[in-house]
Amino acid sequence: MALKNDLLNELLKADDYISGEQIASKFSKSRAAVWKAINALKKDGYQIDAVTNKGYRLVGGNNVLSENGIKLFLKNDIDVIYHKSIDSTNNECKRLLGNGRSGEFLVVADEQLAGRGRQGKSFYSPASTGVYFSIVIRPNLPLQNVVTTTTAAAVAVCKALESLTDIKPGIKWVNDVYVDGKKVCGILTEAITNFEEGVVESVIIGIGMNISTKEFPTDVEGAGSLNVNVDKNKLVAEITNEMLNIAGGDYQSFIDYYRFHSLVIGQKIVYKQNGRNTEATAIAIDEQGGLEVEHRNGERVVLRSGEISIRKA
Ligand code: BTN
Repeated sequence: MALKNDLLNELLKADDYISGEQIASKFSKSRAAVWKAINALKKDGYQIDAVTNKGYRLVGGNNVLSENGIKLFLKNDIDVIYHKSIDSTNNECKRLLGNGRSGEFLVVADEQLAGRGRQGKSFYSPASTGVYFSIVIRPNLPLQNVVTTTTAAAVAVCKALESLTDIKPGIKWVNDVYVDGKKVCGILTEAITNFEEGVVESVIIGIGMNISTKEFPTDVEGAGSLNVNVDKNKLVAEITNEMLNIAGGDYQSFIDYYRFHSLVIGQKIVYKQNGRNTEATAIAIDEQGGLEVEHRNGERVVLRSGEISIRKA
């Protein structure tokens, strides 16, 4: 397996063909072992062009998620666990944490068979047309501070999109990321708490991004895709880099960025609380990421969680 990973790194870095002989001597392996590793990569979905006397090269469709591909762009040395298909990356994180896994890590999938969204909804996660991943961080913060992680995750996604593409993303409170009026990314944050210590031991930040999904199930409203050519490994790594950067630093410093990208300030909205729909106007985002809203009678309240919808004029 080690040779397969080393070979993939070489192929990802190379601008031209690399010869089997070169690889074999660099990693002290036989040509046959290189050939076996090439076939294993092809099996993983990589398209590799093989030309006699030239060697191997990744071709156009090399936009394939992989552990190594992501690691190449990660700034922190955290573990990456890749699954071609899984029920839910958040579920897998919970299982790993339950089995005592330590440290911060990333679980990534090319497809989810039971992707979960907020409010008990499902998240449509078809193969190869999106990225579905969960970042586990250990913030060691009191629960109330961790709520801000949810807003931080939306900021991490937008920053990564802005640095890798020409897209202008916006955030619908709490953390849905929109492009051209369509929701392209959903985030599900779950915390594992230690009640005795009164702290959050780990936070699972689950991110699902539609990249080229064309059709959505009929019960999924308002979803869309990025529809841009973006390297999936780079995208996952860049979002993770941004998230770890925010989590490792000053949680408050990103809130202005969040406000600037908010799609709801000044909008007429409806929010649901205790099963009741209430109409209001969105006024501001507070320092913890709460949404201050004003009711028709002028009374103001701050929403800390839940779901809102923007009322059409
Ligand atoms: C939402 O919009 O309601 C949140 C969707 C969150 C989806 C992501 S995909 C990766 C991670 N695993 C899951 O099962 N859900 C999150």
